[in-house]
Amino acid sequence: MNLLITGGCGFIGSNFVRYWLAMHPDDRVVVYDKLTYAGRRENLHDLWNSSQLFLVEADIADQESVRNVCRAHQIELIVNFAAETHVDQSILGPLVFTETNVRGTHVLLEVARELGLRLHHISTDEVYGHIPDGHQSVETDSLAPRSPYAASKAAADQLVQAYFITYGLPVTITRGANNVGPYQYPEKAVPLFSTNAILGELLPVYGDGRQMRDYAHVYDHCTGIEAVLLRGDIGEVYNVGTGREMTNLQMVDIVLETLAKDDSLVQHVIDRPGHDRRYSMNVDKLRKLGWEPKYDPRRAVAEAARWYAENRWWWEPIRNGEFQEYYERQYAARLDGKAER
Ligand code: NAD
Ligand code: TYD
Repeated sequence: MNLLITGGCGFIGSNFVRYWLAMHPDDRVVVYDKLTYAGRRENLHDLWNSSQLFLVEADIADQESVRNVCRAHQIELIVNFAAETHVDQSILGPLVFTETNVRGTHVLLEVARELGLRLHHISTDEVYGHIPDGHQSVETDSLAPRSPYAASKAAADQLVQAYFITYGLPVTITRGANNVGPYQYPEKAVPLFSTNAILGELLPVYGDGRQMRDYAHVYDHCTGIEAVLLRGDIGEVYNVGTGREMTNLQMVDIVLETLAKDDSLVQHVIDRPGHDRRYSMNVDKLRKLGWEPKYDPRRAVAEAARWYAENRWWWEPIRNGEFQEYYERQYAARLDGKAER
């Protein structure tokens, strides 16, 4: 099979490309990526000389480019990971989220419709909004996104479903929980806290730190997507996570313990505006396809923290480069206690 993996140089996309080529060595994978700050060639450093892997540096919102690449490589399946993905970035500069996440996904749907391709879309638990204690989101729940990021992902998710209903386009959707693991850009909580702890810098915990997340290992997300691609029903949505949450403070404890650091590094800072308190998904529908997560969230977070300790070559150039400007903007006033809502 010939696959177009959009966003294949990002965190989850690159883990998926590595997993897919290991499991399906005869397939050809075309990574289609704009290489934004989050898209990094080095995420696939060990694979670029494979004859099964190609890189196209381009934008998913460029319809002519997507069409030409799909035709040239005789693509049969598009897996759409490409997105702007960080909630805090979506609060600082939201418009690009609409451009890539909504318009970009729409362009992929149009090309898939024109060329008769299957499209699998990577959505997120954030489309459900925050979830009261005692409930776990199921795939039929209505969407109630609360950040510009989540709203753009919900719009994309619904466009994908609309193309199935209206045009019969063969689509599937997975809604992933918070992923952790190798090659996650250090703007996200687990790699940020891990790299800060390694550097002996403060860990900026938003608000009281009692928000709840399902920290799932990226490996289990990859196997979940594979299960849906191979055995899922067309037109269906599947949640992918562990179904178990922890508070951010518990996640911080695991990171500190793994890296042998103490909690004097923890600093509570002013909260993220509109911060979702809790995400929690029921993953029984995916289990019915024969899938089971390998990692519990504790082990997922610990293994991720360890990866950052062992792979400074990967994150030090990022932290020493353009990331500093973002870090200053996002955290300087917060860590000084001067930030206001
Ligand atoms: P990431 O930010 O690490 O990577 C995104 C990738 O998309 C990068 O390689 C970037 O260069 C590329 N990209 C961005 N805009 C593009 C454009 N216009 N055209 C082509 N490529 C573009 O993100 P990630 O964490 O790997 O997330 C991948 C997908 O999974 C996203 O759709 C995200 O919404 C979803 N998701 C992420 C998580 C998580 O915890 N990280 C959880 C659930 C779902
Ligand atoms: P994040 O990795 O940004 O994922 P999301 O917001 O998509 O769930 O954040 C995970 C949790 O950690 C979330 O509740 C926000 C919190 N957080 C902090 O407390 N401090 C930080 O500096 C960051 C980036 C996140």
